[in-house]
Amino acid sequence: MTGKSCVSVEQFDKELVLELCKFAALLEVTEIASSHPLDELIVITAFFEASTRTRLSFESAALRLDAKVISIPDGKTTGSAKGESLADIGEMMNAYGDLVIMRHTDTNSINEIHEKLRLPLINAGNGTGEHPTQALADWYAILKWNPKLKGVVKDDEKITLGILGTPGSMRAVRSFLEMSLLFKENIKEIHIVSELADPLGAILTQKLEEADVHPHITNDINEVISELDVIYMNSIAFLGDGYKTLDSRFKLHKGSKLKSDAVVLHPLARLDELNTNLDETDHNLYFTQAHGAVFVRQALMISMLDRFDRLPDDIPFV
Ligand code: CP
Repeated sequence: MTGKSCVSVEQFDKELVLELCKFAALLEVTEIASSHPLDELIVITAFFEASTRTRLSFESAALRLDAKVISIPDGKTTGSAKGESLADIGEMMNAYGDLVIMRHTDTNSINEIHEKLRLPLINAGNGTGEHPTQALADWYAILKWNPKLKGVVKDDEKITLGILGTPGSMRAVRSFLEMSLLFKENIKEIHIVSELADPLGAILTQKLEEADVHPHITNDINEVISELDVIYMNSIAFLGDGYKTLDSRFKLHKGSKLKSDAVVLHPLARLDELNTNLDETDHNLYFTQAHGAVFVRQALMISMLDRFDRLPDDIPFV
């Protein structure tokens, strides 16, 4: 990743995901602050759309590596509010920092800022497009839950995946599904639970066909719940400025007929599709998923900024 941007899951192969997850795992158990890996570098977090986890985990990750952080927590506080183009904002950022992490409501924002931005860029979510570092955090959590999935498992160890949401228009779900294709030899079946008859859309449908992956589509989680080993949910009630009411076909709670060892992931924020009464159960992988994102993001930033030479000796890396 050195010197590159990270804008799409398409940039990753399985080997790179595994390397970054291995690196993240080492960072998670190593005292690293005293090595100051990102010393003297300035990370710009530019969030033109609301975020709790992504902005704070990136900023926490950067600060714990001793980078300096300057932040746009709300696009309305920038020249955007006066009609300034993202291309011009990108030109300014070239002089202000060393790495840009951007979230935007507009799917085309990555192309627009790249018109003039010369710094490496991390896509922290672009409209209905992608959220590649979320997918890394998702798979980091899954691989910690079941390390056997790093290799190729036996037929009876393959996992059945349930995806509750609409991958064609939800960036976190799309990125998760696309990264899951890298682990397809370990996936027995994928069930997509959506109220739409075509939750994938043309582009994803073609990618899945090319990967020879044929998900089963249903509009009721209860039809398939007893088969699912891993359930990936997203908040599907948020519609523009309002919310729609979800019924029990799209909700999980303590009374749901989950397999005893099934785990639930959710990029969060959640609404009532994921009941808080699951938080204290072993099904909850979503907090591990959110907490581990700090280390995946540290691994990515150190790689992109080529600061391997600042790592302590107990990280036996490159
Ligand atoms: N997972 C995620 O993107 O959460 P935030 O919207 O809080 O950043």
